[in-house]
Amino acid sequence: MSDALLKATVSRKWQEAQDIYAFEFVSADGSALPAFSAGAHIDVHLPGGLIRQYSLCNDPASTQRYHIAVLRDGNGRGGSRAIHDEVEQGDVLKISAPRNHFPLAHGAPHHLLIAGGIGITPVLCMAERLYHAGEAFDLHYCTRSRERTAFVSRIAASPFSERTTFHFDDEAPAQHFDIAATLANAPSGSHLYVCGPRGFMDAVLAEARRQQWDEDRLHYEFFGAAVQKSAADAAFKVRIASSGATIDVPAGCTVIEALASNGVEVLTSCEQGVCGTCLTRVIEGQPDHRDAYLTEEEKAAGDQFLPCCSRSLTPLLVLDL
Ligand code: FES
Repeated sequence: MSDALLKATVSRKWQEAQDIYAFEFVSADGSALPAFSAGAHIDVHLPGGLIRQYSLCNDPASTQRYHIAVLRDGNGRGGSRAIHDEVEQGDVLKISAPRNHFPLAHGAPHHLLIAGGIGITPVLCMAERLYHAGEAFDLHYCTRSRERTAFVSRIAASPFSERTTFHFDDEAPAQHFDIAATLANAPSGSHLYVCGPRGFMDAVLAEARRQQWDEDRLHYEFFGAAVQKSAADAAFKVRIASSGATIDVPAGCTVIEALASNGVEVLTSCEQGVCGTCLTRVIEGQPDHRDAYLTEEEKAAGDQFLPCCSRSLTPLLVLDL
């Protein structure tokens, strides 16, 4: 992405729940921050050179501060450990301007917001926005336990607390989240927004599709998704349209890695098919999409792909590079 980076000061760091820290950023020079809409995220450049995407979870009406919340993932690729352990109040970090791949469909008859764990961050921002816009919505928030639930007091103090239902895995079965019933009981024409761990999102979306919700009423954002690898991954070739160079992509090597080792740099950020930074046009051949960024329609069109994680179904892909 060519977005100019901003310098932001960590004005607050606080513990929101077990293994979850929240951070407040303000502009390092005191100016206003770029406006954002509910569902937006920023890239945060972390100590050690990592770049990670975090959803903004404060009220989008604010241009003085950005809030993010991060779950520590001891088995992750190091981003959450770096921000938990190495970023302190007063530090200055580089961040990107907000981008939104998970926008609200304003004007829908009803909005059904479903969050699993740390997936609450964009969803909470959406609830704030919908409340202030006077639009109808319900929020279901599923977590493992109360101790692991971020923003409990903020939600309790919010004007939409009565529209929020908590579901704790370790409490009475009667309050467990019933995906099928929640979807079946949503008002007709509702739009669904879901964010959370991969398995949770897959279950919610599969049930929505089983209940024949239209694809254009399903909104979701995968963060922290593992890049899908398969033992059946085969080698293929990519050709650079501008130079005509043909490059081998062995099994077990990403297109980005193969390009880099041949001196062709494509900008990346998440390296797991969620941010869209590496989006590349495909001129010929059929991509094997492995990302969580493109819509089903965009994947079917086959004219672009995300080389940090996606592969090829044909022996050759010609790339517009
Ligand atoms: Fe994020 Fe490829 S680098 S989608």
